[in-house]
Amino acid sequence: MISGFETEMVRANVELAEAAVILRNGGTVAFPTETVYGLGANALDPQAVARIFEIKQRPRFDPLIVHVSSVAQGQQVVREWPDTARELVRRFWPGPLTLVLPKADVIPDIVTAGLPTVALRMPAHPLALALITEAGVPVAAPSANRFGSISPTTSAHVRMQLGEAVDRVIDGGPCRVGIESTVVALAEDGPMLLRAGGTPVEEIERLIGPVQRPGVDPDRPASPGQLARHYACRTPLSVCEDEREAPVFPRSGLLTLRPPLKRAGFEAVEVLSEMGDLREAAANLFAALYRLDALGLDRIVAVKVPDVGLGRAINDRLRRAAHEASEPTGADLP
Ligand code: TXA
Ligand code: MG
Repeated sequence: MISGFETEMVRANVELAEAAVILRNGGTVAFPTETVYGLGANALDPQAVARIFEIKQRPRFDPLIVHVSSVAQGQQVVREWPDTARELVRRFWPGPLTLVLPKADVIPDIVTAGLPTVALRMPAHPLALALITEAGVPVAAPSANRFGSISPTTSAHVRMQLGEAVDRVIDGGPCRVGIESTVVALAEDGPMLLRAGGTPVEEIERLIGPVQRPGVDPDRPASPGQLARHYACRTPLSVCEDEREAPVFPRSGLLTLRPPLKRAGFEAVEVLSEMGDLREAAANLFAALYRLDALGLDRIVAVKVPDVGLGRAINDRLRRAAHEASEPTGADLP
């Protein structure tokens, strides 16, 4: 007798094997990671990677993260593997940490947008790792959303944004971390934080010492991920320091870390974590934004969270979601 569980396992394996073939043949597969869903293609195949930009409708070629299923596979696509990389990888891989290192020739220019460096990470998700292993190639993948929109943390979000454009969507349920990886460049003049994310920078510094944090200058992004307006919802969004200062608009929704003192005046309230846990809040952030955005409100008011640990990444995403359409977007950059 074959149990329902075994049938499920067989189905999951067949699905993964099919998706791996799609990747090897130059197709695109959306897959779950612990951070957000990625839109993947064979990182060694420039035409397959071009499909990603087409599907995402990116106004320009932004560099993509190359996902690997082992450290050895990562070492094959870079020219250098400094001691800092070794230490960071030993501690944080698989996990939400992306390292930017000098690229090897096997990585086509379209992946790195012509930069001499490549961003690398090994995701902590069994389906992602199995898919990359089965495909046998490194997988280039940005978040599986249209350019500038909210990152997807469920397969439903992916389908909503990309629909039929992608060859296959693998469902792995909601993402555990819920916010993109931390991006650190290991440049000659020391490590530099390019994007706050799922690995708190404090934890990185505890291991390797100080990490430079360039001021966020929206006109001169250190990496394209620093674009001022990103993670936008259709509904205008304001960020305030404290719930008590939350401006009251007609037909507005409140996004807050902990249960609010008063709900009056808001048509909808999204609480990111009943206990105020920043890890739980990060995991819920994008799904809560999707829900509020779907209500067709006049405004979303988001209350800043404490600026420590994952709180930095959450505040960073809120700040960018708050920029109005008149502010610089990717299309406006030089
Ligand atoms: O958690 C994540 O990182 C997710 C999942 C799918 O792995 N991926 C993701 O990819 O967020 P994307 O394309 O949305 O963001 C990639 C970030 C951007 O900020 C990009 O500018 C930066 O990495 N990046 C990529 N390659 C770079 C490079 N060579 N130099 C500097 N920044 C780079
Ligand atoms: Mg993205």
